[in-house]
Amino acid sequence: MSTVAPQKHLVEIVSLSELSLRHRAALNAILLRRRATTPALSGVNLPSKVDDVAAPGNGFAVLAWSGENNLSAAVIGTIFHNSDPGCAAFEGVNPVVSSTTMFTSAYSVANIPQPFDLIRSSYPDTDRITLHIPLGDAVTATALGHLGFTLDSFLALRAGSAHTPLPSVNGFNIRAAQGQDAAKIANLHVQHIEDQLPTSAFVSTAALDSRDGVEDLEKRIREGATLYVAEYDKTVIGVIETSQFDVPNDGKLRRTPHGRAGVVQWVCVVPEYRGRGVGSALINTALNELNNSQVDYTYVFHGANNPLSTSQFWQRFGFCPTWGTWELNVE
Ligand SMILES: CC(C)(COP(=O)(O)OP(=O)(O)OC[C@H]1O[C@@H](n2cnc3c(N)ncnc32)[C@H](O)[C@@H]1OP(=O)(O)O)[C@@H](O)C(=O)NCCC(=O)NCCS
Repeated sequence: MSTVAPQKHLVEIVSLSELSLRHRAALNAILLRRRATTPALSGVNLPSKVDDVAAPGNGFAVLAWSGENNLSAAVIGTIFHNSDPGCAAFEGVNPVVSSTTMFTSAYSVANIPQPFDLIRSSYPDTDRITLHIPLGDAVTATALGHLGFTLDSFLALRAGSAHTPLPSVNGFNIRAAQGQDAAKIANLHVQHIEDQLPTSAFVSTAALDSRDGVEDLEKRIREGATLYVAEYDKTVIGVIETSQFDVPNDGKLRRTPHGRAGVVQWVCVVPEYRGRGVGSALINTALNELNNSQVDYTYVFHGANNPLSTSQFWQRFGFCPTWGTWELNVE
């Protein structure tokens, strides 16, 4: 695609579908080396081959060479178009503008001079670059900080499916959501996005426009989406949504282990009722339901800078942050 020659390294960006044998061999060597030297991290599957990283069709590699065959650092990324406006506020919601996701879990960006300028010029419609790195990868985290990235959110994992005792519930009750709760749940979804806006530059107000409409939500509830509501005096004061799916054991780079994964999609309590145990009761109910379904683990994305939903809060329920998502605005 294009090439620049900074002081010490030759840096190039290449589509994964156009990798030469030399590229491939050098990338595989760097991946293997990084895999061998990265301490085992719970829930992190590091790839050993470039083919395990991304679908060749939409992927690219930025390679920094310090000699003919000496690849000193690499970043591999995939281009994706956001198309999941549902609940994943942290994924950013803009179905029109393309974004770049880059997995640096297996490489260090520390030695690459200005790699993102190349990405910017090669993919001019990219609005932001998202990098997911294991929390133990301090070298890459430091490099990203220097390159202007900010740590935006965590993927926190709760291993196993141990039983979670339900707390005593005073004055409110928890029940499965029904179709007629859809309007109240939609309001809470807006609230939940608004709660993220002050501390995440990448939760856009577009998330509010493209959120589930009330009819869509009602349909999803009727079709079996897993949502619980907290009710006080016949009013919905909180909601939680979970899902579950199988993560295949196919050797590809994934941020979570293979097996049956439970996901806490989102949880929100009406501001006036926060701090009274409603959120805990919702989370414990949802975890019990996931445990009954025998998930192998559960994960949640939560903001790195949101005082309403901290690591400390999620640790109360056994969630431990394992990956960080770093973001750079390149508009
Ligand atoms: C996160 C949220 C659901 C928690 O609901 P809540 O009803 O206030 O939580 P609880 O009252 O059950 O809190 C349980 C305990 O955690 C503590 N806690 C609550 N929020 C906390 C936080 N942000 N950091 C650390 N501890 C926290 C409470 O003090 C309480 O401790 P205690 O049992 O010792 O009194 C609520 O703050 C919320 O709706 N936030 C906005 C939406 C959001 O950010 N959602 C998360 C992303 S999906």
